[in-house]
Amino acid sequence: MYQIKSYIKFLTKATNQHGVHSPFIYNFVTKCLYDNTKHPEYNALTTYREALKASKVELEITDLGAGSKVLDSKKRKVSAMVKASSSSKKESQLMFRIAKYFKFKTILELGTSLGMGTYSMSLANKTAQITTIEGCTNTSAFAQSEIKKQNIKNVEFITGSFTDTIPNLTTEKFDCIFFDGHHNKDATIQYFEALLPKIHNDTVFIFDDIYWSKGMTEAWSFIKHHNTVKVTIDCFHIGFVFFRREQVKEHFKIRL
Ligand SMILES: C[S@@+](CC[C@H](N)C(=O)[O-])C[C@H]1O[C@@H](n2cnc3c(N)ncnc32)[C@H](O)[C@@H]1O
Repeated sequence: MYQIKSYIKFLTKATNQHGVHSPFIYNFVTKCLYDNTKHPEYNALTTYREALKASKVELEITDLGAGSKVLDSKKRKVSAMVKASSSSKKESQLMFRIAKYFKFKTILELGTSLGMGTYSMSLANKTAQITTIEGCTNTSAFAQSEIKKQNIKNVEFITGSFTDTIPNLTTEKFDCIFFDGHHNKDATIQYFEALLPKIHNDTVFIFDDIYWSKGMTEAWSFIKHHNTVKVTIDCFHIGFVFFRREQVKEHFKIRL
């Protein structure tokens, strides 16, 4: 119910590229978010998703996050997980486009799950260095074996809780951090603050599910108003954060 109400409110305020005066943001919206090209890599993403949907594997899950609104048992079928917790077709194509558009060289993903987001970003730039963290040992092992089958070599998998593993990250600065796990207000703010020392001027933070709950929207609002943050783009399911010192502080709501 919270999501439906929020979506209606979002639609009354959201726009497209018109009214966006910053060339940096205008180009991002028109050339990346609204890019309708059928990139050949989308076929690989579809094949990966279809294989997960057809999988007969069941995983014993350890959930360190806010849980699933759809699945609550400890044993979960991969075929059900891909529908409930993985980036959707539209989201994974978007992640691919974003990683390609900005030419990210160093990416951190919080929440590997079955590797859908990881695979999307790794396809965008085979030489990018992607680090992905997953708290559930069995899910992480499964994702690693699936990604390996795709002959993807630029991903480092870390298994452990975000709280325990973030302090040990060796990459000095990340071009992009995708926050896609533990959808809870305090946790999201905690990871946001813990990762601020890892940003440079052009780092992009991407937050999934910013209207998943009232708490997540409050976390998003905290992030928007943080003094390090310059520009945000709220696309309802996903939110983008830019730190570029040369931008004026501005918040956009853009319909995808
Ligand atoms: C929504 S899924 C990630 C989806 C994935 N990024 C994709 O694009 O398909 C969230 C994942 O984060 C993991 N997770 C949640 N909270 C965590 C925590 N505190 N530490 C480590 N992993 C966590 C969950 O086990 C789950 O697999």
